[in-house]
Amino acid sequence: MSVPSCFLPFFSLFFFQPLLISSSSSTPITIPLSISNTNSYADLYQKLSQLSSTSLARAHHIKNPQQSNPLPTSTTPLLPHSYGGYSISLSFGTPPQTISFIMDTGSDFVWFPCTKRYACRNCSFPGPQDITSFFPKQSSSAKIVGCLNKKCGWIHSNFDPNLSCSECQSQNQEKCTQICPPYLILYGSGATGGIALVETLDLPNKKVANFLVGCSLFSSRQAAGIAGFGRGLASLPSQLGLKQFSYCLLSRSFDDSGKSSLLVLDGQSNSDKKNGNLSYIPFSKNPILPGKKAFQIYYYVGLRKISVGGKKVKIPYKYLVSDSDGNGGTIVDSGSTFTYMNSPVFEPVVSEFINQVTKVYERAENVESLTGLKPCFNLSGHDSAVLPELKFSFKGGAEMKLPLANYFSIVGDNKVVCLTMVTDNLGPELTTGPSIILGSFQMQNFNVEYDLLNERFGFRQQICQ
Ligand SMILES: *[C@@H]1O[C@H](CO)[C@@H](O)[C@H](O)[C@H]1NC(C)=O
Ligand SMILES: *[C@@H]1O[C@H](CO)[C@@H](O)[C@H](O)[C@H]1NC(C)=O
Ligand SMILES: *[C@@H]1O[C@H](CO)[C@@H](O)[C@H](O)[C@H]1NC(C)=O
Ligand SMILES: *[C@@H]1O[C@H](CO)[C@@H](O)[C@H](O)[C@H]1NC(C)=O
Repeated sequence: MSVPSCFLPFFSLFFFQPLLISSSSSTPITIPLSISNTNSYADLYQKLSQLSSTSLARAHHIKNPQQSNPLPTSTTPLLPHSYGGYSISLSFGTPPQTISFIMDTGSDFVWFPCTKRYACRNCSFPGPQDITSFFPKQSSSAKIVGCLNKKCGWIHSNFDPNLSCSECQSQNQEKCTQICPPYLILYGSGATGGIALVETLDLPNKKVANFLVGCSLFSSRQAAGIAGFGRGLASLPSQLGLKQFSYCLLSRSFDDSGKSSLLVLDGQSNSDKKNGNLSYIPFSKNPILPGKKAFQIYYYVGLRKISVGGKKVKIPYKYLVSDSDGNGGTIVDSGSTFTYMNSPVFEPVVSEFINQVTKVYERAENVESLTGLKPCFNLSGHDSAVLPELKFSFKGGAEMKLPLANYFSIVGDNKVVCLTMVTDNLGPELTTGPSIILGSFQMQNFNVEYDLLNERFGFRQQICQ
């Protein structure tokens, strides 16, 4: 690897550090993965309706990347942990400082709240919650990324150093002090901005020098830093050159318990035996489109069939594959809670549930309007609930049968259950991007593996400890 061309000492205090030698260990790196939970909900209704509105807002962000205006449909204020799902702690710097991040396979940049001046707008938390900042001044390995550093081009699309690093053109390039221009990332519902650093990422048994990380000086509507696990050059898996990463999705019923499972980086060697039973779906090709760079970072899988109670639901094929505009197709996304489907996909699924279930139980439309979820059924008066099986079938033959708790949630005390998936009623002009976003709620108690070496997504149902 070539040493990037231009590192600057941070605040002129630190000098160029020699590259740290990474230990080339074959043992996997494991990091605790917890459910990001900054909030305790008043009741289940509120919790489900918030999870459904944040899942929807997340879907809008995924589908309309870099859009600065939130879509009119997301009227509920977003919780700070709207990107929530699962969080990890990572240590950066020398000596290391530990910061919490949302683990996000739908983005490709790693950033943390940074310096004591970090300002977060509309980040009010229902409960007391401190945002932990990273302090570059307290780290001897923090360096601002120079304008000519190739990593500067990782965060600015179509970056041309000839135009953007004008100061470096006239000077001796070695001595050029111009820094990489500040970044500003717009999310569907918030933003963050700051200065790019290279820092030492201090993993449990490995130090990675010159890791590109964003030192955010301000954000809006962000609960924590974000660790991008998508496909771009700047993402954590890319920078570490990971062959794979995997994790077990803890049950959401542990939301308040502080329990965690493990995120395993390059764990193949150790767990070959345990992983023997994974089902695999090949990753589908990402649509390549100018101006829609974000679609490049998603993990597309070929969903081919949805069955409800053994009956195949009729879904127009065009939603299952991405077209030449990059619309359509299915992605898996750790940052989405409830699975999202475009309404032409969602409505037939809902109809099939209603068809089959209302033969036994009554629909509870009053609860649907309270939670924003549908359909809901009233199981009151029945001793045991029998509901149709939900199965996703993928290209290549893999089948994902969901445990009931992964798609129906009990709401309130009245034995009402609601389907935990979301849609919206936007016109066709707004149905850009993936049609289906498989969220983490549907994969509770699944061990999932992003096998980057073999370009496939593995999964297995298991109890996550
Ligand atoms: C905070 O959120 C409120 C309501 O969503 C909005 O009106 C206000 O402009 C936001 N403030 C900032 C600083 O973003
Ligand atoms: C920048 O300028 C150099 C020398 O003038 C040239 O070789 C190079 O191709 C230019 N790079 C870009 C991206 O235009
Ligand atoms: C793999 O699957 C087989 C058959 O379903 C089962 O008997 C075995 O216990 C599984 N092994 C592991 C490690 O889960
Ligand atoms: C469910 O059905 C029972 C019995 O018919 C009724 O008393 C209860 O109010 C219903 N619950 C809801 C939320 O509609």
